[in-house]
Amino acid sequence: MVFENTPISSGMVDLDRGLIAREIFTSQAVYEQELERIFARSWLFVGHESQVPEPGDFILSRMGDESVIVNRDRHGALHVFLNNCRHRGMRVCRYDRGNTRRFTCPYHAWVFSDEGALVGVPKLESAYHDRLRREDWGLIEARLYNRHGFLFACWDEAAPDFETGMGEELFYFDDYCELPDGSHGPLEAFGGIFKWRIPCNWKFAAENFAGDYYHDPSHASVDAVTLSPSGRTGRHTYDPVTKARDVYKLNICVPGLGHTARGELFKDDYDYLPTYQEMPVVEDYFRQCYQARQARLGEKARWFGHGGTIFPNVSYSNGVQSLGTWNPCGPHETEVWRIFLVPKDAPEEVKQVLRHYVIRYQGPSGLTEQDDMENWGYAHEGARGTIARRFPFNYEMGLGFERRQWPAAWLGADVYATEDVSEQNQRAFYGRWAALMADPRPGRVLAPGGVES
Ligand code: FES
Ligand SMILES: [Fe+2]
Repeated sequence: MVFENTPISSGMVDLDRGLIAREIFTSQAVYEQELERIFARSWLFVGHESQVPEPGDFILSRMGDESVIVNRDRHGALHVFLNNCRHRGMRVCRYDRGNTRRFTCPYHAWVFSDEGALVGVPKLESAYHDRLRREDWGLIEARLYNRHGFLFACWDEAAPDFETGMGEELFYFDDYCELPDGSHGPLEAFGGIFKWRIPCNWKFAAENFAGDYYHDPSHASVDAVTLSPSGRTGRHTYDPVTKARDVYKLNICVPGLGHTARGELFKDDYDYLPTYQEMPVVEDYFRQCYQARQARLGEKARWFGHGGTIFPNVSYSNGVQSLGTWNPCGPHETEVWRIFLVPKDAPEEVKQVLRHYVIRYQGPSGLTEQDDMENWGYAHEGARGTIARRFPFNYEMGLGFERRQWPAAWLGADVYATEDVSEQNQRAFYGRWAALMADPRPGRVLAPGGVES
């Protein structure tokens, strides 16, 4: 696969041979092109609706390398605005979260409503002589899509809608959005947003979560300690169940769209196995949820998702239940934003068990994520060396052995489902990446008044 009409050299991604040039992780030119051709054209995760429950609530979020405001206006409608004053580009909001009916720019005090309209301009009559067309100078607003409370936004007016862009990944993301009882009842993000920076390119993290079961050895120390809330060795909530049953461990990818999922498919129906024996309230809750899920989903309850990556930079983890965005900060740095979710109506004991679990599993304090960050940091450094960068990375594991057919048709007609470890998911991710990078069409962003960027 080669790039055409681009400032970067051809042959960086050769999926026929499973070779990728290290330069795609380190080049400033590649990075700047990613912002234009990938981040400005893709649906990006910006927050969960439980973070803005009341009229007037807002949080700051990010799309690519830019700050955005996610807010609920006084009528209850959700918006995503570029946090950028139309006058000179000052941030119109500098608080991480709050409640407001208007955003007043700190620089010259232009005032924007909670629907993005420019409603106040100092000296409109005396200095602008009433010539300023305020209706053309509101905040830039992104398209917004709400999937079971998870909010995604996209700048590109010409991009396909969210569902079309997800394709058969929707089954896996919908599964992730479920409560433990298999319903789409309310979840709540709790404890704020973990934000921290890691010294590596954003793609190292995205491709790892996309389907890198191969790196299990690097978590050997975490597996050896009691990290799981079950109180036994292992690091996953579901280990006591899945390790006692016959399962297919699957990598799933949606070719062409670059989305991926990972998980286990039980070969037979299964019963709940005691997991939280020393916590009766928690044990009862999860036992009842298991039974309700099997009754609700039937055969599909045999799918036990682990997580995956929604192209380009959103990685979700089941079991923990968290969702992280890998926000690019130049080619050499990534700012991770991670939220954790709990079933809103679960007993407090359940929420606390999950909260303690995610703190020791993921985020900057999480033992598992620390293993990953160390790997990615050194891998990034290893992509920059004068000699090292002349040699491509190897992505050929499982090349030619991808399977489009799988006994459970409901896993998707067009997905690849491959048992055990494979790099098919990473190849799907970079296939989509390369296709977008080779497409010079600019994303179309409309300003208020219909002015095209
Ligand atoms: S930069 Fe916002 S009012 Fe001037
Ligand atoms: Fe990992």
